[in-house]
Amino acid sequence: MSKKRSHHCGELTKQESGIEVTLCGWVAKRRDHGGIIFIDLRDRSGIVQVVVSPEFAKENFHLAEDVRNEFVLQVSGNVRLRSAETINPHIPTGEIEIVVTELEVLNTAKTPPFYIKDGVDVDENVRLRYRYLDLRRPEMQRNIILRHKVTKLMRDYLDNRDFLEIETPMLTKSTPEGARDYLVPSRVNPGKFYALPQSPQIFKQILMVAGMEKYFQIVRCFRDEDLRADRQPEFTQLDMEMSFVDEEDIMNLMEGLISYIFKGALDKDLKVPFQRMTWDDAMDQYGSDKPDLRFEMKLVNMCEAIKNSNFKVFKDIVDKGGLVKAINVKGYSAIARRELDSLVEFVGIYGAKGLAWIMVNEDGTIKSPIAKFFSEDELKEILATVKAEPGDLFLFIADQKPAVVAQALGALRLEMAKRRGLIDEKALAFTWVVKFPMFEYSEEEKRWVAVHHPFTAPCDEDVQYLSTDPGRVYAKAYDMVLNGTEIGGGSIRIHRREVQKEVFKAIGLSEEEAKEKFGFLMTAFEFGAPPHGGLAFGLDRLIMIMANRPSIRDVIAFPKTQSATDLMSQAPDDVEAKQLRELHIRSTVVKKEIKEIKESKE
Ligand code: AMO
Ligand code: AMP
Repeated sequence: MSKKRSHHCGELTKQESGIEVTLCGWVAKRRDHGGIIFIDLRDRSGIVQVVVSPEFAKENFHLAEDVRNEFVLQVSGNVRLRSAETINPHIPTGEIEIVVTELEVLNTAKTPPFYIKDGVDVDENVRLRYRYLDLRRPEMQRNIILRHKVTKLMRDYLDNRDFLEIETPMLTKSTPEGARDYLVPSRVNPGKFYALPQSPQIFKQILMVAGMEKYFQIVRCFRDEDLRADRQPEFTQLDMEMSFVDEEDIMNLMEGLISYIFKGALDKDLKVPFQRMTWDDAMDQYGSDKPDLRFEMKLVNMCEAIKNSNFKVFKDIVDKGGLVKAINVKGYSAIARRELDSLVEFVGIYGAKGLAWIMVNEDGTIKSPIAKFFSEDELKEILATVKAEPGDLFLFIADQKPAVVAQALGALRLEMAKRRGLIDEKALAFTWVVKFPMFEYSEEEKRWVAVHHPFTAPCDEDVQYLSTDPGRVYAKAYDMVLNGTEIGGGSIRIHRREVQKEVFKAIGLSEEEAKEKFGFLMTAFEFGAPPHGGLAFGLDRLIMIMANRPSIRDVIAFPKTQSATDLMSQAPDDVEAKQLRELHIRSTVVKKEIKEIKESKE
């Protein structure tokens, strides 16, 4: 490299016309116009057109003839205004070009397996295998740059409010977030394992006992769970904890933080305070604890309207304390029969045993397989309850279990909104969901389990029911929801030992077990634990929404696939027998069996 880089490709405008510049970058495109070669040169800042002609680039012209896409170049030359007819209004540098006087090929490149440009239609597995090429694409660079900006804004905001960034261990003991742990064998402690943290939950609470008062960390968390578009086995949290605060303090601070980030990174003004909705209302009206509020279509309770009817299917369910609810898909009374049938299958996935429907035609007439079971008055009441108008399509689900109605109708609500194009992709619908139930009953384990985690404080008025009726205890827990995604969650913690003991008892954890699992936290609490609480944001999810991407993989530099593999580095992988021996691990799965498992998967 004979000269120093003077500018970045994407920042040159007509202001620079006439001056000499030296640029470095990759060849995005090369066009040979017989005797004159045009190259789109790309670096992180953008693309600029460089022109290589034998007239100006006397010694280097032959080099340009051999240049291919993704070669790494350094060029020097003069910035020249383009003639009016060659101006490209689609790129910021479209008014100028560089007339090359010197060109150096810094490196050659093989032909990449896909074009390095936005919106490529290529299998994600190929993108993941060649992640360095995928990340070279401008839209991916924008996501990574946005992520950097957001974490910087987070640090600034919290630093300005006296938070300390404190690191906590990665090799640690199992934490209580409820997913499966990733385990790490200890060489020097034969037969013992560390767990990678599912979150720094216990350590951050101990930092409060330690008098740190305000803690945060941008931290990697590990959870061995089934993966989806918004879940990775390792993901990042902005984790926070504060002493001497209540729920309001925390929620206000978090709204301030999120507003600061949206303003700083996207120049968007958010309206605070965000809406607050109890968990009960969220489940009742949206069938979800992370309601998407970008559109209405609330779930309507139909129990009153049908309880006196002769429609046995619904009436029996209501009589036995079950639930019947409906949604109104506005303007969709002309739905095809085939689509209706497919919706029955759709709700079946969520456990619904059926789906009933009523169409109100544009002329006001009714079409429905269940209308015949109702008298004229009953039908009137049903239509009044759902506020029917011509063109409406009503979908009903009845079930003995309220959770099934919520899940199935909640999912159907989202599905119909997608199909009907009701979701405003530009909208930002924030809400807090507050007052979660403290416990839920696990049919599998035949015991109550903590909904959030067992250090979450029960609401003051419910403490009395901890031992007698755990099902009616609500928690001082809150989630922040954005566009139907849970982007963060937290709670006020228990700081008094007696309450903690009762909570452990309610989830069937004996004192010995609790000691074994979290004894060090319990011991710490005996030395003056302040009242405290906190919250953690899922950083990847937040950035995913800010960048308007459908998957968190698009905002993580090196993500894993749905089957938790890294296609670029080929992790996880076999290890040497010697490594296993040193770790005191005997592999029970012999090579042959691994081969068989692999083959059966293929
Ligand atoms: P929680 O388990 O709710 O709380 O996690 C906080 C946030 O982390 C994000 N998240 C994930 N993101 C990507 N992939 C995953 N597998 C994944 N799992 C969770 C979500 C979620 O809202 N210690 C508590 C916080 C606290 O109580 O302060 C905790 O970890 O956006
Ligand atoms: P049946 O009398 O069982 O044929 O049911 C009459 C109508 O009620 C059909 O359209 C069914 O799809 C619908 N249906 C049956 N069970 C349920 C349910 N649990 N929830 C909603 N609709 C149902």
